[in-house]
Amino acid sequence: METRPLILDCDPGQDDAISLMMALSPHSGLDVRAITVVAGNTSLNKCQRNARLIAELCAKHGGAKDVPVFAGCETPLHYPLATAEEVHGVEGLDGIEIYDPSLPLQDEHAVDAIIRLCRNLDSVVLVPTGPLTNIATALTRAPDIADKIAEIVLMGGARSEAGNITPSAEFNIYVDPQAAAIVFDAPVKKTVFGLDVTHKALIRDTHVAQIEALDTSMSAILTNMLRSPYAEYDRAKFGTAGTPIHDACTTAYLLRPDSFTFRNVCVNVETDSRITRGHTSVDYWQMTEKTPDTHWAIDVDETAFFDLMIESIASYPKF
Ligand code: BDR
Ligand code: CA
Repeated sequence: METRPLILDCDPGQDDAISLMMALSPHSGLDVRAITVVAGNTSLNKCQRNARLIAELCAKHGGAKDVPVFAGCETPLHYPLATAEEVHGVEGLDGIEIYDPSLPLQDEHAVDAIIRLCRNLDSVVLVPTGPLTNIATALTRAPDIADKIAEIVLMGGARSEAGNITPSAEFNIYVDPQAAAIVFDAPVKKTVFGLDVTHKALIRDTHVAQIEALDTSMSAILTNMLRSPYAEYDRAKFGTAGTPIHDACTTAYLLRPDSFTFRNVCVNVETDSRITRGHTSVDYWQMTEKTPDTHWAIDVDETAFFDLMIESIASYPKF
């Protein structure tokens, strides 16, 4: 299990929310120092509200308390913001009661918080599950922080599964390919969960029934989310047998790295092409000169993944 301090950079989003629920769960043991928010699934304003809402719910139900939430970049580095309300709903979080949480938003900008925490700590793990705008901006503004970043554990990209927003690109990389290129080129170890593996971690009706049977208020919140139109989107569009919970692969890896298998690769990102913008060119067969610096997830133990998710939710006490 990961014991180093973590920064969770996200754009909630139900799968970001589930990843947060696992990371902040009562016995996770993860050392979450900050939640930094980026625009992606919906506007920055809705994403930061959603992040605070989930963090507040986790704390209220016995999970980690006092994890500060920071809002970051409102738009990608180059392209206008593309969002995914058709997947996540108009508020970005279909299936959950939306309200303005009392957990405050920190005054500091997320990029400044990332730079400050990296500089003040010996070693930090960054966990981005949205477009990479905040992380790339921090690395560009303060290249010295690369020495403090032990690993970037991110959800994004695709090789064999090609794309989910265009035929060639995964959403997080498509939204801000310039930022993704900066991150993939940075001298930092990367561990990447792209569609190749997240499409193998599908939540099925039987899993939802197991979560419902826990019969706690946290399990009821998650069950509603997993029975909302969000859960139908990938099944209807891509004919999958269940719903991929993409972003939760990052937390599952932090908790139980041996649930996944990897290939050492290097990754280049297409930034400009009208047709293949956001494509991740994964050097699976070491055909380029670039030194492999990325652990590219290729497989997951689906049973271990869902056992972990269910254990995390079960650890929230019954109120
Ligand atoms: C990614 O895009 C978003 O819609 C999800 O939250 C996830 O991070 C999957 O392509
Ligand atoms: Ca996300």
